[in-house]
Amino acid sequence: MKKGKFLLAGLAVSGFAAAASFFIPAAFAQKSLLPAGKKETTIRNLTKETVRYTIQRLMRDQQAIVRYLKPDALDHWPCESPLDVEFDRNGRPTSYRLECGLPYTFRYDESDLLDLYSGSHGLFGVADLAPFVPTPMAVVEKMLELGSVDKDDILYDLGCGDGRIVIAAARKFGTRGVGIDLDPQRIEESRRAAKEAGVDGGLEFRLQDVMKADIRRATVVTLYLLPESNALLRPLLEEQLKPGTLVVSHNYSIPGWEDKEVNYVTLQDGTGQDHTIFVYKR
Ligand SMILES: C[S@@+](CC[C@H](N)C(=O)[O-])C[C@H]1O[C@@H](n2cnc3c(N)ncnc32)[C@H](O)[C@@H]1O
Repeated sequence: MKKGKFLLAGLAVSGFAAAASFFIPAAFAQKSLLPAGKKETTIRNLTKETVRYTIQRLMRDQQAIVRYLKPDALDHWPCESPLDVEFDRNGRPTSYRLECGLPYTFRYDESDLLDLYSGSHGLFGVADLAPFVPTPMAVVEKMLELGSVDKDDILYDLGCGDGRIVIAAARKFGTRGVGIDLDPQRIEESRRAAKEAGVDGGLEFRLQDVMKADIRRATVVTLYLLPESNALLRPLLEEQLKPGTLVVSHNYSIPGWEDKEVNYVTLQDGTGQDHTIFVYKR
C-alpha cells in the first residue's frame, strides 16, 4: 500500500501534552457516564494487537498498574491528576505523561510501530478516524487545485477540523461546501472562521460521525484521515458518490482504490516537511 509520511506521529513524540489540548475534551465523550465534577482519561486500542501497558495516577496509585488492552477496547481511568503510562515500542520502554480528563489512543505510526496519541475518541460505536492535525495552507491550496474545485462544486471535507479547506474554497472560488466533524470544538471554530471570512452563507458545518453522513450531494471530497480510516470510509464513498466525483486525500492513500487513482503529487510545506496528495476519481 502506498503511504504518505505520517505527520501525526510528531505530536505523540514531541510536545505530547501540548498537543493534547487541541483535542476533544473527554467531558464531551463521556458526559453521561461520569458523575458531575469527576474526570477520567480514556485509552483506546486501535491496533490489531493486545497492548500491554502500565499506568500510574500520580495522586492515586502507590505503584504502577499493569493492563492488557485488547484491540478496539477502551480503558477508563478516573483521575484528578496526571497519569504516567509506559509501554513497549519496538523493544524500547516508552513513557508519556497524560493529562487527566483527555482521551488517548494506541495506534501505529508511519513505520507501523506502536505509539500513543492524544485524540478524539471515547464515544461508543463511533470510529475515531484521526486526531485533529490541520492541513498546512499551502497543501490546502494544492488540494483545491488538484480537485479542480470551482464555483459550481459542492465540496465535502470529511473530518473538517477547523474548516479551513471548505472555507479556503469558498473564499477563493465561491464554492459551496459541507464540513463534518465529531468534535464540537472544531465545528464551533469552523462556523466562527467561516463567519469571519464572510463565507458562512454557502457553507454548512455538521457535528456528526462521517461514517453515518449523507454525502450524496458532494461533487468533490477532501480527506485528511489515517490509512485504516480511509479503508473504513471506502464503502460509504462507493455507495454514495456519483461516478466521476474527485476525492482528494492528504498524505494517505485509499486502500483498494488503486485503479481509481488519477494523480499523485508530493510537495513541501514552509517547514520543509513533505506532503503527498492522492487524487481519485470515483
Ligand atoms: C487530521 S484532522 C483533518 C482536519 C481537516 N480536514 C484538515 O485537513 O485540516 C481529522 C479530523 O477528523 C475528525 N474526526 C475523526 N473521526 C471522525 C469521525 N468519525 N467523524 C467525523 N470527524 C471525525 C477529527 O475530529 C479531526 O478534526
